[in-house]
Amino acid sequence: MTNNPKTSDDSGLTPAGHPEQKVLALVPALRKPDLMVPIRSLGANHRARIATHLKELNAHDRYYRFGFPANDEQIQRYVDGLNFERDEIFGIYNRHLTLIAMAHVAYSQLERHKAGAEFGVSVLPHVRGRGYGARLFERAVMHARNEGVRTMYVHVLSENTAMLKIARNAGAKVERDGAESEGHLVLPPATLDTRVMEMVEEQLAHANYQIKLQAKFIRNTFSAIAQAWRPGDPDRRARQRSAADN
Ligand SMILES: CC(C)(COP(=O)(O)OP(=O)(O)OC[C@H]1O[C@@H](n2cnc3c(N)ncnc32)[C@H](O)[C@@H]1OP(=O)(O)O)[C@@H](O)C(=O)NCCC(=O)NCCS
Repeated sequence: MTNNPKTSDDSGLTPAGHPEQKVLALVPALRKPDLMVPIRSLGANHRARIATHLKELNAHDRYYRFGFPANDEQIQRYVDGLNFERDEIFGIYNRHLTLIAMAHVAYSQLERHKAGAEFGVSVLPHVRGRGYGARLFERAVMHARNEGVRTMYVHVLSENTAMLKIARNAGAKVERDGAESEGHLVLPPATLDTRVMEMVEEQLAHANYQIKLQAKFIRNTFSAIAQAWRPGDPDRRARQRSAADN
């Protein structure tokens, strides 16, 4: 991995010692040694951002993610076809509200408990190696358990070390069939804990998203005002008027 997990970035995620951590300490499953990752369940209104995220992936990543080097049109068709009623899509947003990581838990049938679920994930290159992929898998597993799913499957190219690690670390059995491998994880039934944890995680992630939304609005407003007030600029009045209009 070329990315250093410890360097700070624009992800806007909560570092240890932040007051939010005190709240999180009450919820054991959310306690992480150095990072709390707010993972949201995404609805159809996030479709455009999902498409942008996936189109950011290079050909090699697309090959790993989809099993072939999908072009932009094929990605768009995949995104347009996402069924938010049946499946579950999870995402991690940074403070600029860029979708930096996402996972798709796909169910083959509407009666979820009869079928297994399939997990697919992608993390943007500049934020890899920070545990987001593994956290999305954990989140997906917790959700699937709560939905009564018994097995989580991952189809992965045998050379995809990172994804194989995520699956194996979570306890999945991986069987290799030449260039491809399949991991399957037998899920224990849901408990009161997993149900409460999922609710709390979703609420925290939703609140975190709203805060980022407001912070972005404030940042944009201030930067428009600052632009309009740049001294000694002949176009200042025009920009002031335009900032006021916005
Ligand atoms: C696979 C992918 C999702 C991993 O995301 P990530 O956020 O970097 O993964 P994590 O940081 O959670 O790391 C998970 C494990 O893999 C290891 N790992 C990460 N990148 C690795 C690499 N390039 N080589 C070897 N191991 C790697 C990590 O060390 C960690 O293992 P550890 O906990 O035992 O140390 C990301 O590389 C990606 O988006 N790839 C393109 C799409 C894809 O392959 N999707 C999976 C198929 S559906």
